[in-house]
Amino acid sequence: MVKHIKPNVQGHILELGPGTGSFTRALIQKGIPENKLVLLERSPEFTSLLQESFPSAKVICGNARNLSEVASELGINTFEQIVSGLPLTAMGPTSRYDICDSAFTMLESGGSFVQVTYFPRCSIPNNVITAHSARKTYCGITLRNAPPAFVWRAEKR
Ligand SMILES: C[S@@+](CC[C@H](N)C(=O)[O-])C[C@H]1O[C@@H](n2cnc3c(N)ncnc32)[C@H](O)[C@@H]1O
Repeated sequence: MVKHIKPNVQGHILELGPGTGSFTRALIQKGIPENKLVLLERSPEFTSLLQESFPSAKVICGNARNLSEVASELGINTFEQIVSGLPLTAMGPTSRYDICDSAFTMLESGGSFVQVTYFPRCSIPNNVITAHSARKTYCGITLRNAPPAFVWRAEKR
């Protein structure tokens, strides 16, 4: 999920649906400064846990559908990278499209949107990938996850 992200980030890294923070911890282990992280999580319980675990990160309790409003309140216009643990395949097509379109709109050129999924096909909508001139790559599967998880990355050109 974070293999492609270099520690020398200038801007912010957004994580959508960070849950208990396993990808967040991997980002920090890679050397990403905690204060460069914006964590947008819908569950109040996970948000409290994330705030305790990552006190220097910007941890927001909210819906990924409201990403542009959340970013604007933080004074952030773009994200250098986006990591998503959102259950996109379990969402309706409209939510899936709106969330991904808004995320790609805020993603800098050269940045990636990386998504985990429990199905062997990419859950980032193809029309969003095309509209934002992104290129999709299959990154691999982890069998140690239950259920096994697939990772897809779309780089914005
Ligand atoms: C599969 S879990 C992520 C697991 C995470 N990688 C971890 O280490 O725990 C998906 C997360 O997305 C959050 N979520 C689901 N829909 C959301 C939405 N619309 N906006 C923000 N977060 C959402 C859930 O509350 C949950 O924490």
